[in-house]
Amino acid sequence: MKHQLKLTGGLFLLAAALSYAAPAADNWDNLCTKCHGADGKGQTKVGKKLGLKDYTDAKVQADLKDDEMAKAIAEGIKDKSGKEKMKGYGSELSGDEIKALVEHVRKFKT
Ligand code: HEC
Repeated sequence: MKHQLKLTGGLFLLAAALSYAAPAADNWDNLCTKCHGADGKGQTKVGKKLGLKDYTDAKVQADLKDDEMAKAIAEGIKDKSGKEKMKGYGSELSGDEIKALVEHVRKFKT
């Protein structure tokens, strides 16, 4: 029974992703490269100023947790004084799209 539920849920997510979610690579290009760079290294003008991490670095990847990454993308990131460093995308991206972006970020690892 438990198994069956999982399978049904998985198929539903797959169907949903295929029907209307924009591919993660497109979302990355449109929304994220300005700061994080097309290559994920964060070596853009803005990225350098913000001191962004290099997502091709295996150590950086090892320090990042999937759920923390998803939270950062959904809710954004503020510095200690509460100033927004990265905006949250929870209102414009679905949960599946955010999950796909986390996987996309993982792919930069070399
Ligand atoms: C305005 C520049 C900007 C844009 C646009 C931006 N980010 Fe970020 N992002 C940041 C900053 C700044 C941080 C925090 C870095 C830190 O504190 O070390 C961050 C952190 C993150 C983190 C948490 C892991 C980390 O590096 O600390 C993830 C995951 C992430 N961004 C993904 C994305 C994704 C996916 C998008 C596009 C949907 C995106 N970002 C768009 C600036 C940006």
